[in-house]
Amino acid sequence: MKFEKDFLDKIINITSNAAIACYPHLGKKDKVLVDKAATDEMRKNLNQLDINGKVVIGEGELDQAPMLYIGEKLGTGKGPSIDIAVDPLEGTNFAANNLPGALSVLSISLKGNLFNAPETYMNKLAVGKDVPFDATDLDFSVEKNIKNIADSKNKDLDKITVCILDRPRHKEIIDKLKELKVNLKLLTDGDIAGALLVTDEKYNVDIFLGIGGGPEGVLAASALDAFNCNFQGRFLFKTDEDINRANKMGIKDLNKKYNLNEIVKGDSIFCATGITSGDLVNGVNFRNGKFNTETLVTHKNSSINIIKKEVTIT
Ligand code: FBP
Repeated sequence: MKFEKDFLDKIINITSNAAIACYPHLGKKDKVLVDKAATDEMRKNLNQLDINGKVVIGEGELDQAPMLYIGEKLGTGKGPSIDIAVDPLEGTNFAANNLPGALSVLSISLKGNLFNAPETYMNKLAVGKDVPFDATDLDFSVEKNIKNIADSKNKDLDKITVCILDRPRHKEIIDKLKELKVNLKLLTDGDIAGALLVTDEKYNVDIFLGIGGGPEGVLAASALDAFNCNFQGRFLFKTDEDINRANKMGIKDLNKKYNLNEIVKGDSIFCATGITSGDLVNGVNFRNGKFNTETLVTHKNSSINIIKKEVTIT
């Protein structure tokens, strides 16, 4: 079975409406409130879909409800069995401070095709489709990855741009990158968008790497798959609680490096609607009584589009 166009439109509406729900709360310095608005709207709309849905990538466990939690059942229960990965508000700081880059993100696939991941950190690497598959690897040194990319693209090191979250945990990597004299694109937040900057030359990012959220890694991977880009991820389980959760989800090898095709299989749909404007899409715009939203949509079994969607408020 593959997803049809009208189903795709329904999914686009879900992230669009979640983004619009954030609009009254932008710049109110209240991360919880704006996150709740996105989550409630996303849950309400997912529950109206004729699917037998289950959250495989969510914002926590059952005890952390009202977030959309891993294992939560969604939909009317009448349609196909679907795996759902959600991040109703990616970049809570951005939305709470009305800064660029907040997104509402959703990915779906048929049951069993999206990795069932715990909410923990992940070491990630993403490169564009113009980089040979074996040129980069999470297990290579930073230097080797960068030099291989430079060689494969026939570029000097000072023409290479690396995107990474600006965090103290990345000090060693960032120092190395400075030593190599490559250009940095340092993110304050929002590494789904960061990873997706390798999808098109216009963003001028040659590699995304570093440690960020695991759920964000799986979501980014589902879009990167449709763009034929490469992604690798390795979860980082630090506490006993993390390890217990991983065991319960059936993850046996805690140190396993996952390739893209082990994270996403088969047909999938990814939607990211701009809440505030960023590199990928514009944010929600309200003019003349109408909300306009812009959504980056990838559908593995069809073409990839940025859809500008206009929603009229009632
Ligand atoms: P939230 O929207 O949940 O705040 O996540 C933002 C984010 O920057 C993600 O994009 C990223 O994966 C993660 O936080 C990084 O976590 P940390 O801020 O702990 O380094």
